[in-house]
Parts: sequence; C-alpha cells; structure tokens
Amino acid sequence: MTSNESPSIRDVLRKAKVFPPDIPAFDPDDTPEAPLELFTAWLTTAVEGGVVQPHAMTLSTASPGGDVTARTLLLKDVDDALWFATSSLSPKGRQLNRNPRVALTLYWREQGRQVRILGEASRGPRDVSARDFTARHPDSRAVAIALRQSAPIESEQDATVRFAEAKERIAEDDSFAPDDWTAYRVAPTSVEFWQATTGRDQVRLRYDRAPDGWTRTRLWP
Ligand SMILES: Cc1cc2nc3c(=O)[nH]c(=O)nc-3n(C[C@H](O)[C@H](O)[C@H](O)COP(=O)(O)O)c2cc1C
Repeated sequence: MTSNESPSIRDVLRKAKVFPPDIPAFDPDDTPEAPLELFTAWLTTAVEGGVVQPHAMTLSTASPGGDVTARTLLLKDVDDALWFATSSLSPKGRQLNRNPRVALTLYWREQGRQVRILGEASRGPRDVSARDFTARHPDSRAVAIALRQSAPIESEQDATVRFAEAKERIAEDDSFAPDDWTAYRVAPTSVEFWQATTGRDQVRLRYDRAPDGWTRTRLWP
C-alpha cells in the first residue's frame, strides 16, 4: 500500500481489538448435570462483569422450505426454558407458527464466551405474555399497537396518527395488552458452551438432551 492510499478493509481488520487478558476460565470437567444451570451461571457472570446487553441474543428461525432468518431479541427469563417476547403476527411469529425449531446464540465478547442453543419454541400462557407487555415502556407498547411489526411504513402521517392513538389507548388503560404480543419459551435440546482462552485454543462443551437427562461432550475447537 502506498502512503496516499486509504487502508484496505483487511488492514483495518488486522487492527481489531482481541479478547482482554482477564477473560474467565472454563473447566468442562467441573460442570453441572443440566445445561441451564451452567447457562444461568455464565449469564450472571456476564451481568456482574458489566457485559453490555448481556441478555441480547440472536434468534434464528427457518421457514418450512428452509429459508433462514435471524434477528436480535432480548432474553426475558430462564427456568427450564429460555423466554423471549414478540408479536405472533411478525415475520418471525408467522415462521414459528409453521416451524417452531429455532437456534438461539448469545455472545459475551468481553468474556470471550458464546452459547449456542437449539430447541423448540412454544407459546407461553396468556397472562405471562400480557405481563411482559404491560411491563414495557409506554412508547414501546404504543409502537407495538400502532402498526404490525415489520410492516412497511406506507405513510409517515398515518403512522404518526396511529402511534398517537395507541399512546392514548395506553394512557386510558394501562393494563391493555394486544392478543398478538406473545411470550415464547424455548425448551432446549442442545446447548453448547464456547470459551476463548488467551492462547489460540478454545474450550467447547455441548450438552444434548437424552431420555433420562443430558449427555456432555467435549468438542474439538
Ligand atoms: C438489542 C435488540 C433487542 C431487541 N429486542 C427485541 C425483542 O425483545 N422483541 C422483539 O420483538 N424485537 C426485538 N428487537 C427487534 C428485532 O431484532 C427485529 O427487528 C424485530 O423483532 C422484527 O423481526 P422480524 O421481522 O424477523 O419478525 C431487538 C433488536 C435489538 C437490536
């Protein structure tokens, strides 16, 4: 490269920051029998370690024909499943109706950790969905009511009017929750934990659901 040329994207990428030296260690021989116990421990470490948006996760869905889509969502709860909330009328909601098999991916870059989950999404009880909705900021609720999620904005003016109407509706009834707002639970069938190290190796451990619990398998990085 001559001095008056701007750096190529390859040169820029070579300067990208790598993992910090103080990333946590992971001993796959010292792990609980159930993956969500380990997941919750990692999530807590991420929150307490100041990871930005540690509850942001990628939800990948597929149409019955095999077209794949992915987007970021917030993790809302963890019990024997992982919970997220969205509109059942959105593109992802319609895909889930026809094919509930999903992948969830979380990446805590500050700690060099990734978790990959495969499972099946199902709708949670109506009251859980309604509670999730009413806990949201009034403006977020108004956005969800005004127009269908991911619908093209045909007219700015119409969208502004609908948003104002939705805000009024919420101001009149703070407990209102639309039928399409849905809390989904993903029951995992496979959960893989990936830990970077300060060297070039990585530690990987995958849990797979078995008839009487979970199997644990180390994976080559
Ligand atoms: C950090 C982050 C968090 C998000 N959280 C949610 C969420 O909890 N629920 C949701 O419906 N969309 C959420 N979104 C928006 C989605 O990524 C997506 O744009 C929207 O759900 C429409 O997706 P669809 O067209 O595939 O149905 C979030 C986006 C980001 C970047």
